[in-house]
Amino acid sequence: MSNAAYDAVCTHPIPPRMRNGTEVPFIGPNFEAYKKAHAETVGPNADQWWAQMARELLHWDRPFQTIRSGSFKTGDIAWFPEGYINASYNCVDRWAFEDPNKTAIIYEADEPGNHKYISYGELLREVSRVANVLKRFGVTKGDTVSVYMPMTWQAVAAFLACARIGAVHSAVFPGFSSEALRDRINDCRSRVVLTADEGRRGGKAIALKALADKALEGCPHVEHVLVLKHTGSENVGWVAGRDKWWHEESAKVPNYCPPELLNSEDGLFILYTSGSTGKPKGIMHTIGGYLLGAALSVKYVFDVHPDDRFGCMADLGWITGHTYLVYGPLALGVATTVFESTPTYPTPARFWETVDRHRLTHFHTAPTAVRLLRRLGESHVQNADLSSLRVIGSVGEPINPEAWHWLNDHVGRRQAAIVDTFFQTETGSIVVSPLPGAIECKPGSATVPFLGHEYALLDPVTGKELEGSGVEGVLVFKNTWPSIARTVWQDHNRWLDVYLRPYPGYFYTGDGAVRDKDGYIWIKGRVDDVINISGHRLSTAEIESALILYDGVAEAAVIGANDELTGQAVHAFVTLKREFKYDPTDEPALAKELVLQVRKVIGPFASPKKIYITPDLPKTRSGKIMRRIMRKIIAGEGDQLGDLSTLAEPGVVDVIKAKVAASA
Ligand code: WTA
Repeated sequence: MSNAAYDAVCTHPIPPRMRNGTEVPFIGPNFEAYKKAHAETVGPNADQWWAQMARELLHWDRPFQTIRSGSFKTGDIAWFPEGYINASYNCVDRWAFEDPNKTAIIYEADEPGNHKYISYGELLREVSRVANVLKRFGVTKGDTVSVYMPMTWQAVAAFLACARIGAVHSAVFPGFSSEALRDRINDCRSRVVLTADEGRRGGKAIALKALADKALEGCPHVEHVLVLKHTGSENVGWVAGRDKWWHEESAKVPNYCPPELLNSEDGLFILYTSGSTGKPKGIMHTIGGYLLGAALSVKYVFDVHPDDRFGCMADLGWITGHTYLVYGPLALGVATTVFESTPTYPTPARFWETVDRHRLTHFHTAPTAVRLLRRLGESHVQNADLSSLRVIGSVGEPINPEAWHWLNDHVGRRQAAIVDTFFQTETGSIVVSPLPGAIECKPGSATVPFLGHEYALLDPVTGKELEGSGVEGVLVFKNTWPSIARTVWQDHNRWLDVYLRPYPGYFYTGDGAVRDKDGYIWIKGRVDDVINISGHRLSTAEIESALILYDGVAEAAVIGANDELTGQAVHAFVTLKREFKYDPTDEPALAKELVLQVRKVIGPFASPKKIYITPDLPKTRSGKIMRRIMRKIIAGEGDQLGDLSTLAEPGVVDVIKAKVAASA
């Protein structure tokens, strides 16, 4: 879309139920109300406002005096530094003490009908038991615990058990391969790993323990593996002395574990994420600030009230799972949903039956799922009673207007608000989003900065702030906020280099964005080498490194190309070593092996959609691969390649064009 085209997009009125009646939203009824609220949270009284929110929403074991210290300039960010706070206590105990029977978790198992409600009282007992088991394993404050678990309610308990004793959890998405898991366990030197016999998704079993075992062959520091018996599979390998069953260990320890006294700036979790370089970064979040961002954004972005039932479909292995499945909803004492299945199992009505069955008030998912379901037709959504839904969230990638309208027309039935929420692993919680009772939406725009946040669009070259409307630049944030990450695990310099040094004084998101005539923000996607496949974040360098590990591969260049279903898809160009022997008449066989190679090193979700075996790659005379050329050719713009004067071997362009055309 051209920048002017953004101005032409119509706004959609706030749905009636968010404007009046009994459901008066926290912030509304119009843009003016948002503007007023926002101005109060970023001006001279910003710190007082954050302090008030921190006291209102969270329980502090010891009060803080200082509200914020440090800055993006110096990279020494701290919030509420004298405060002591326990995230597990905040998310579990205070609600269990108030009403132990209140539902904390709605567990929607893979097989429909096998759901279960877990009360705050029961959650407190499970969290306590796991915390006590971890203590028996010798885990103490500051130790890391790797969590490689399926979507079960016990995985939520695992996070909170770590938080309870001050251990730093590092969740690894169960779609990652053994090798990816091994690297993550080793990078943060976990001595303890939590996993399950198997996971289950869409009627299929995932051999998690076997994958973990393979990873652990290369993890000399791991002493204990706690295994949840989830499917009860008979085929589970066992290393005596190291492996222990979750239920057996839990039965040995008391049902209550006192929460540890922890400083607001103690570590809460690490989450590995992809950046421009091959090696994933362990993004580190700390307790008080992160928890405040999580609770505050759930409350205001989703307009959550105490009896709501929140449904976030993200996996626990990603930041959305951390913030919008675990910490945010539970810090507010509302029910949260653990959805183990897929959007299409056993039928494409699965999401909507889940909403109906549990009367979910909130439903939060990724555009890729919406595109898939839209393609399968609205008949699947028609039979469910979705009248409980008040707010529907979208996250992880730009939502295309067709998908937005489908959500609005068929899921929300024009009664629910839609919020397109933008955030990142690094920002911890939502930083750009409509507020459902105050902002009229434009499909495809994440609209306005969240309370307490101030952004700017910068000229990428000069680093100057772009003023006015109709401008496009890189998205940065000014001033710190509580839930911004603090560092990269064991690599503070990398944190500074990637996020704070590119534009001194600002936090650099890596995304480009446009501001339209109404001041609405349109996120355009990454300006670095990060690609987004179905909302899963990967770096091109990471996939290239995986390909190069294959014996016959000399060089690889990976690009992200638009894809109707997955947002972006991986296209890989590969050259082979001269001595490598293969059958040139059967390139598909080799391509298949290379896809397997990526699955093995990273995981199935990173699989290239297309592999092109070419004799050479377009490079500059200094040897830099010109990915831009391949990007254009894939996009069908091979006749608009622009200036090719720096290209070393111009002939390669035609070879690549022919390859791409042949495989279309
Ligand atoms: C992208 C996922 C457009 C963006 C929460 C960002 C989005 C990256 C949106 C972070 C959105 C996330 N509209 N793009 N609403 N939300 N993104 O760390 O490119 O896995 O930088 O966090 O996802 O990915 P991450």
